[in-house]
Amino acid sequence: MNGGAEVRADPAPRFGAAPRAGAAPQAGAALELRGIGKSFGDHPVLADVSLTVGAGEIVSLVGASGSGKSTLLSLLTGALRPDTGEIRYGGEPVAPAAGGRDRPFAFMPQRDVLLPWRRILDNACIGLEVAGVPRRAARERAAELFAPFGLAGTEARYPRQLSGGMRQRVSFLRTVVQGKPVLLLDEPFGALDAITRDELQRWLLDIWAAHGWSILLITHDIREAVRLSDRVLVLPQRAGRIAGDVPVPRDIPRGDGFLLDGRVPPLEARLHALMVAARA
Ligand SMILES: Nc1ncnc2c1ncn2[C@@H]1O[C@H](COP(=O)(O)OP(=O)(O)OP(=O)(O)O)[C@@H](O)[C@H]1O
Ligand SMILES: [Mg+2]
Repeated sequence: MNGGAEVRADPAPRFGAAPRAGAAPQAGAALELRGIGKSFGDHPVLADVSLTVGAGEIVSLVGASGSGKSTLLSLLTGALRPDTGEIRYGGEPVAPAAGGRDRPFAFMPQRDVLLPWRRILDNACIGLEVAGVPRRAARERAAELFAPFGLAGTEARYPRQLSGGMRQRVSFLRTVVQGKPVLLLDEPFGALDAITRDELQRWLLDIWAAHGWSILLITHDIREAVRLSDRVLVLPQRAGRIAGDVPVPRDIPRGDGFLLDGRVPPLEARLHALMVAARA
């Protein structure tokens, strides 16, 4: 599978106003972590972490600040190496020495990292340029996504001239334009106000429905995790195994009906309890 940034011939929007209960992800794990451990000096941050993200699945990882969520993504991007364990993609081990450009993962970092002196289009190209794509080709590929991402007309602006929500969309565009099948999103909406966050969550689900990405999403926010995900995983504060793996029924509407669905509060309460227990 290599859906990448290709648009599916038959997009199956399941999170819109009328979700389709039958639109299950394809069988098989796109991403699999087995027994991952990582310490900084004598401080273990991750120990025996195993998880899977199925092809076409959105899986959220929640956990307290400092529990190692960003560290886990750094292991996936290749910025850090695990002390123990294995990362697999499509059933095959990812070579430990493979750098970001050779891995099937595209990463959106926790902070807004647009370069203030680069125009928006040039910011959107950075990931491609780092991957060795010539600048002109990179610009052409990125430019195609501006309209579908609601960013038409911003190409020649600078980051300071965009709202926070628009900047996050540029960061997201920069991530997906790399054409990788797995997206790693670290708190993509963390710094936004509630209304903009809500808008971007809906936007993400809409745009996701037209693509084949598998997504591992990190968030502090239980409601966001439930709304966006097929499954929510809880990372314990003290290094150890995943402390909860909570499936979210696929037929819960993720648009206007989300908060009115009676299944949502018990799911949130369960996750809250798991997170409290995972702090012990
Ligand atoms: N390069 C590093 N060197 C030493 N310690 C580190 C390094 N990176 C992270 N840590 C430590 O590892 C722990 C986990 O950090 P990490 O950034 O992964 O947490 P997090 O779960 O992403 O937190 P947050 O929710 O606040 O973003 C923290 O105690 C942090 O200080
Ligand atoms: Mg973090």
